[in-house]
Amino acid sequence: MKDPIRSLEFKENKLFLIDQRFLPGKFETFVCSNFREAEFAIAKMVIRGAPAIGVTAAYGVVLAALEFMEFPRHKFFSELQKACYILSKSRPTAVNLTWSITRMQSLIDQDSEPKQIFERLKFEADKISAEDVMTNKLIGKIGNSIVPQKSNILTHCNTGSLATVEYGTALGVVRSAFASGKAIHVFVDETRPRLQGAKLTAWELAQEGIPATLIADNAAASLIKNNRIDLILVGADRIATNGDSANKIGTFMLSEIAKSYNTPFYIVAPTSTFDFNLGSGNSIEIEERDPTEITHINGMQIAPNDFNVYNPAFDITPASNITAIITEKGIIKPPFIKNIK
Ligand code: MRU
Repeated sequence: MKDPIRSLEFKENKLFLIDQRFLPGKFETFVCSNFREAEFAIAKMVIRGAPAIGVTAAYGVVLAALEFMEFPRHKFFSELQKACYILSKSRPTAVNLTWSITRMQSLIDQDSEPKQIFERLKFEADKISAEDVMTNKLIGKIGNSIVPQKSNILTHCNTGSLATVEYGTALGVVRSAFASGKAIHVFVDETRPRLQGAKLTAWELAQEGIPATLIADNAAASLIKNNRIDLILVGADRIATNGDSANKIGTFMLSEIAKSYNTPFYIVAPTSTFDFNLGSGNSIEIEERDPTEITHINGMQIAPNDFNVYNPAFDITPASNITAIITEKGIIKPPFIKNIK
């Protein structure tokens, strides 16, 4: 089996990202030399997926410290804090972004020299990045325990190496099950409107020879009804303390169908995706993206001029639709309010 790819790499004081806007047609690298380029990469989805944007933002803070190193001391600190704020606003829904920036900000102390702070920040970003890979491998191993020896798995969006630093969350469980010799087949939702399933998940699975079939999102219901899906594995962008989970638009619909037909529905996510300040999913901010994601496909207009569009990027799956949440610390089963604590 081929090694999974890495979505990002920091070397020679630059951040190198696989440009996910052009896969699978073109494999290009997007280079961030300053924090504004890291912000652009997150906002424009050069890189996407909750854990991956968290790590990109951490390196964005490192780039900012480097840029401002020669500034007068007070300006170094004020510009660095401004950069943290700007990076934290680059996308609203995934909590991993603010989680990693808060972790970086805790290392910025006014008593240290800018160079010391830069080195500390770089060390921490490398640590967050390495932890992500270890966490995913652990999630994969733990998650493999719920995958039957022979099974058809449905997944939505992209939760693989491209959505993390390497290996993936829900797709990490798939990788782990495949590597352990299980006879799995993955049904991949194309994931309109940005097609992360078709463009990214299918690409990752093909690279590693994992048996898979691509489906239109609207084909999932009949597959579930006809007993052709044994379990559903999806990721999350933010999980409230009652288990309500924000994930790619369409996840909620999938969870409703799964519930109707008693198909196990798992959320797979690191503990950095939990928002311990939220009691429920009601107040999770849902990002709304550009209408052209719906009205155009590859630059070609497919809807009438100026037609009204509603384009939320995420939805909330209620805890009551979730069989269990698979994390690096174990599998959390209902009652979530008690067990997440
Ligand atoms: O808009 P995206 O592509 O960033 O959305 C990604 C998802 O919804 C993923 O399922 C989620 O971030 C988990 S990735 C391990």
